[in-house]
Amino acid sequence: MTENGDAIDGGSDEAPNESALDEKLRVPSCERCPALVESRSRIVDGVGPTDADLLFVGEGPGAREDEEGEPFVGRSGDVLDEALRDAGLARADVRITNCVRCRPPDNRDPTTEELANCRGHLDAEIDRLAPDLIVTLGKVPSEHLLDRSVAITSESGEVVDARIAGASRRVLLSVHPAATLYDRSQRDGFFETIARAGELSGAAGGESGGQSRLGEF
Ligand code: URA
Repeated sequence: MTENGDAIDGGSDEAPNESALDEKLRVPSCERCPALVESRSRIVDGVGPTDADLLFVGEGPGAREDEEGEPFVGRSGDVLDEALRDAGLARADVRITNCVRCRPPDNRDPTTEELANCRGHLDAEIDRLAPDLIVTLGKVPSEHLLDRSVAITSESGEVVDARIAGASRRVLLSVHPAATLYDRSQRDGFFETIARAGELSGAAGGESGGQSRLGEF
């Protein structure tokens, strides 16, 4: 990945080793979106194994994520973590990323231009992982990856195939975990959707624990 958002191209004649490829998913610097450069403290890259079966895609970092440099570590992240645990999934076994890697000012949605500017980074990540399932967390990532308008509350839980990063990918649509905080009635549906993600990807009960480790807490 280059600063201009170009996808990995292999470059040299030698096959790059795995950790070098994974390192290329980090975005060390980017100045493409003036408003985001102004509002961010850091670039927040995706976290989790680059061979994860499941990839969760959110909208963009919030205040806590901007502070800590990791996606979904604030209140939304607490809800996501709880749903993952309930589904027998461990956060350490899934990959979590965002459509844009810099915090938008005043927690506004990223603009179409900002989403486009960051798309190369997201596509490179999806291409590298080739996950069994992509879960879009909320309307913004759902519309961005499916390239159509999405009524997320009614479409949440649906699985669709979409052409993303040069290949057909299976996508599970979900409401954003924050939706469960301002509307408790969305909570059961969100938890069911995350449970479905575990079933569809076969990732539930993975090495790092999930249900098998719940007794520790
Ligand atoms: N909301 C998002 O969409 N992404 C995060 O990383 C945190 C909150």
